[in-house]
Amino acid sequence: MKRDLTTMLDIQDDILDILETAEEMKRKRDMDFQPLKGQVLAMIFEKSSTRTRVSFEVGMIELGGFAVTLNTKDLQMGRGETVADTARVLSRYVDGIMYRAYEHDMVMELAKHATVPVINGLDNFEHPCQIMADLLTVKERFGKLKGIKMAYVGDGNNVCNSLMLGCAMVGMDLACGCPAGYEPDPGVTKTAKAIAKRNCCKLSIVESPKEAAKDADVVYTDVWVSMGQEEEQKLRQNVFKPYQVNAGLMSVAHENAIVMHCLPAHRGMEITDEVIDSEASVVLDQAENRLHAQKAIMVALMG
Ligand code: CP
Ligand code: NVA
Repeated sequence: MKRDLTTMLDIQDDILDILETAEEMKRKRDMDFQPLKGQVLAMIFEKSSTRTRVSFEVGMIELGGFAVTLNTKDLQMGRGETVADTARVLSRYVDGIMYRAYEHDMVMELAKHATVPVINGLDNFEHPCQIMADLLTVKERFGKLKGIKMAYVGDGNNVCNSLMLGCAMVGMDLACGCPAGYEPDPGVTKTAKAIAKRNCCKLSIVESPKEAAKDADVVYTDVWVSMGQEEEQKLRQNVFKPYQVNAGLMSVAHENAIVMHCLPAHRGMEITDEVIDSEASVVLDQAENRLHAQKAIMVALMG
């Protein structure tokens, strides 16, 4: 049976093992460990990317394989060929498919019809690869995950959905501070709360950014305007203004709190220069850890 990573829930049983492999990948970053020798990953992009594209491509090279980048505007998919047919055809050429999409249903459809593993490289609903890199970053900073208190401040978007599941799965407390009407997905919230209960950790959604950030070990934010929401830019900038991660907000967090952002950042909007460039900021570690975490994911799925 082939295995996919379309949602964090797909790795519920072995998330800690994958994180351990990721740590090992980072410790021994050499070209001698090549479990994917000769394998090819196709990467389909409907949206822009810097980190996802480069970290997957470099990751495949380091594991002994190759990656092929495909933009939907150049593919027949962009002219109406179905996702199902694209999945069937690509499965005859490559050993895995990474897909960055708008609709989560498209990722699910690709996974359903591909006979090779499919990895969600971000869609409007989830961003599981990002959260694996984030958890790796928290683990290396604090030496543990269980018991760490994270605050996510801003839009209840794809990153927030995956973060709720990821934190619950590894036993981290998470408080999301989101404006009314911009909370994370109710279905994902319900699932994440049930997982959190099983793992004896807390998940809460509050409206006040300060209430979420109070005593937090980690303060995490993401853009106010995600890819595809450009038309809502003006409205969103007004709604989210009180949710900026700045020195004032950081002053209510734990004194040794770290700051996280999946990047790209809109400096001066969701986060100030002062905070993102401070000692507390681990955003570049997060970006680097995309590589190590995804190598571990690819080995788990394609190895
Ligand atoms: N964080 C992230 O996914 O970055 P890219 O959009 O550059 O891939
Ligand atoms: N929420 C952002 C994440 C970018 C990596 C977006 O979807 O655009």
